[in-house]
Amino acid sequence: MSSESEATGKRVLLGVNVDHVATLRQARGTKYPDPIFAAALAEQGGADQITVHLREDRRHIQERDLAILRQTVQVPLNLEMAATQAMAEIALKYMPDTVTLVPERREEQTTEGGLDAIAHAATVGPIVRQLADAGIVVSLFIDPQIDQVRQAVRLGAATVELHTGDYANLPPGAAQQAALGHLRDAAVQASRLGLRVAAGHGLDYHNALAIAALPHVEELNIGHALIAKAMFVGIERAVREMVEILTL
Ligand code: PXP
Repeated sequence: MSSESEATGKRVLLGVNVDHVATLRQARGTKYPDPIFAAALAEQGGADQITVHLREDRRHIQERDLAILRQTVQVPLNLEMAATQAMAEIALKYMPDTVTLVPERREEQTTEGGLDAIAHAATVGPIVRQLADAGIVVSLFIDPQIDQVRQAVRLGAATVELHTGDYANLPPGAAQQAALGHLRDAAVQASRLGLRVAAGHGLDYHNALAIAALPHVEELNIGHALIAKAMFVGIERAVREMVEILTL
């Protein structure tokens, strides 16, 4: 936690991703643990947003989860999804506050890189417009590259979520500082172009602060480290401790 003399007054919003609760449930095909319950406790711990990734293979979050969360979550609900027409129809049915378009490969363990908004402009652009026209805030999960940021603006996104995986996977040192620099440059450029800036992937109780402290970063989405800690201290406390880190 920042001491009073160091406090900057910046409070970066925390989106809590509850996918891993569903992963544990799906491992046994039981009714528990329920991500709905996890989301409610995360809200009590101070989560500013609940994030779920409804994957095309439905490996963790199910459509039932999205339907119930839409009715129960009181903070904004952020749906991560692939940029496909089938997923767009699901988003239009449940109307999350935000949709974050992510790349999806079936064989991956988790989202392994940002969406290539340039290569996939022909599919991503129409989905962005369709969702934005319906009143959903659309975010693109992109690598921290200036050309991807510019493309996000061209495609009509309101927000970019910068992929922090490269930074998070590196040990402290020059390469990690370079990755942080790319994130800083992308955040500055995105803000200049009128985009809201979020970030996420691979963030934990040690490395989240450096990302939160970057200029223009307003929101972090965190799942794995937070749910892992919650196994030992409970979700409310795990969320509260992360909120403290994000209060600069
Ligand atoms: N942001 C996005 C767009 C993601 O796809 C994920 C993983 O589902 C996260 C954030 C959270 O990543 P982690 O589980 O590593 O905290």
